[in-house]
Amino acid sequence: MALARARGLDARALARTRTRTRNVARVIGGGPRGGSNDADGRAWRDDVDDETLAYVRKASTASSFEERAFGDDVIGEKLLRAMRVQWTHGFASTPSGFPRCTHGFGEILAGMQPAACDLILRDVLSGSTSVLDPFAGGGTTLVCAATLGMRAVGTDVSPLACFVSAHRCWRPDETTIDEMVHRASAARDLAKSAEEQSVESDAEEAGDGGVPRAWRRIRDALRASNGGVSGGRVDESLWFCMSVALQRTQKSQSKARPRKGKGKRSGGSRGGEDNADIFYKVVEEYADRLRQFRAMCSTCDSQAPDAEIHNIDVRRFKLADEAKVDAVLTSCPYPAVYDYLSFARKVRAGSGAVVSTSSPRSQGPTSSYVNTVVPGDRNWPKEWMEGEIGSRRALRSDPYAFRDAWQREQEEWLEVVAHSLKPRGRACIMVGDGANIDTRASMVSAAEKFGLKTLAGATMKLTTTTESGNVYNQARTEHLILFEKH
Ligand SMILES: C[S@@+](CC[C@H](N)C(=O)[O-])C[C@H]1O[C@@H](n2cnc3c(N)ncnc32)[C@H](O)[C@@H]1O
Repeated sequence: MALARARGLDARALARTRTRTRNVARVIGGGPRGGSNDADGRAWRDDVDDETLAYVRKASTASSFEERAFGDDVIGEKLLRAMRVQWTHGFASTPSGFPRCTHGFGEILAGMQPAACDLILRDVLSGSTSVLDPFAGGGTTLVCAATLGMRAVGTDVSPLACFVSAHRCWRPDETTIDEMVHRASAARDLAKSAEEQSVESDAEEAGDGGVPRAWRRIRDALRASNGGVSGGRVDESLWFCMSVALQRTQKSQSKARPRKGKGKRSGGSRGGEDNADIFYKVVEEYADRLRQFRAMCSTCDSQAPDAEIHNIDVRRFKLADEAKVDAVLTSCPYPAVYDYLSFARKVRAGSGAVVSTSSPRSQGPTSSYVNTVVPGDRNWPKEWMEGEIGSRRALRSDPYAFRDAWQREQEEWLEVVAHSLKPRGRACIMVGDGANIDTRASMVSAAEKFGLKTLAGATMKLTTTTESGNVYNQARTEHLILFEKH
C-alpha cells in the first residue's frame, strides 16, 4: 500500500511531507532539447518545445527524495533522472507537455510513469530496436516503444491487463476509427430511443449482477448496432470503451455516494448526464487518443509493427531465437503490494455479460476477455485465478512461505528474461521493496544466476519523520536496475 501511494505522489503531497533528504552531490547538466540528438544519435522530436521537456529538466536536478546511484557512474545518473521523473509525476497521468496519446486510458493498477518509460528507452536503452515487457500491465512500455519505432512484445497474466494494453496499442486507420465512432453514435441513439419507449430489452443475464439497467440497455444497443454479428476489432474496441465508461461512472458514483441515511444514489449516471452520452463521449475521446498515438508512431524513421501481447504467465513464455529482443523494460510486481488478478475479476464483473450467449463468440485479439462469462458463484476460469507473482493474497495466506516463494519466482521469470535477450542485450527493471524484502538484493542475486550482470542502478527512498526526527509509518523504497546479458 505504501508503495502504491509512492507511485501516485503529487506535488502537494510532497510539500506536506517532511522528508529526510540526503541528496546526491552530483547534479546532471540540462536535459536534451528539442531537435537535438541523444548519445546514440536517436533524434528527439523537432516539434518538442521548452514546456514539453520541462519534466526532463526537472529530472536533471537532484530531487527532494533520498536518492542514490550505484554501479557505472554515467548510467547510474541516467537511471536517477528516470526515477526522478517517476517519483515527481507518479502514475497514471502524464506530466504537462508530455503527449498523452493512449496512456492511462482505462484504469489499471500501478505502472511506470510514461514520461519515465520514454526517458529510459531513449536514454538508457537507446540503440535498441526491440523490447519485451514481461509484465506489460497497461502497456506503457509497449506504447512508448511504438512511438519510437521499436518492435514491442508484452506478456501479462491478467486478462484485464492484456485487454487494456491491446486497446492502448491499437493503430487503426482513419476509416476504422470513423466506423467505430459511427457505430457508437448508432448505439447511443438506439439506447436513447429504447429508454424513451421503455423497451424491456435490458433483461439481466448471467453475470450481470451489479451492472445498472441503463448500461445493460447500451450493451443491448451495441449488440444490435452490428446486426448481432460480433467478432471484429471494432466490436472489441466498443466493449473496451463501454468498460472504461462504466469504470468512470462507478468511480464517480462511489465518490459521490452519500453517507448512510443521507440520501439516494444517483442511479448510475455522472452528475445527471445520460449514460448513453457518457459512453459516446468516451468513444470520441478514445478516437482522439488513437489518432494522436498513430500520428506519433508515423513520425518515426521506421514504423514499428503492431505490439505482440500474450496473456500468459511469463514463466511459461518462450521467444523463438529469431524473435529475441535487444532490451527488456518493465516494472515488475512488488512483494505483497497488489492483487492484480482480483482487481481484474472485479473490473470484469463490473461489465457483466458482454457478448451474447446466443450469438457467435468474439474472434478479436481480446476475445478471451470479452467472451468470459462472469460466474455467479465466483468460480472463475483458472486463467483469472492462477499464476500471479508476489500477490498480497499470497503473503496473507502463508506469511512464512512468502519470502522463499518470492525468491524462487524471481529466478523463474528472470531466467525467461535472460533467454529472451540477444547477447549483450539489456534489461532495465523497476522494483520496490515490500514485505520486508530488499528487492534489489533479491533481484541481483536471481539475475546473476542466469548471466545477467548488474551494470548500474538507482534507488529512491521516502522516509517520513516526526517533528522529533523519529522515522514512522511509511518507508518507501524503489529501485531501477540495469542488467546486461553476458
Ligand atoms: C507493476 S504492473 C506492470 C506495469 C507495467 N510494466 C507498466 O509499466 O505499465 C505488474 C504486472 O505484472 C502482472 N503479473 C503478475 N504476475 C505475473 C506473471 N506471473 N506473469 C505475467 N504477468 C504477471 C500483473 O498482472 C501486472 O499487470
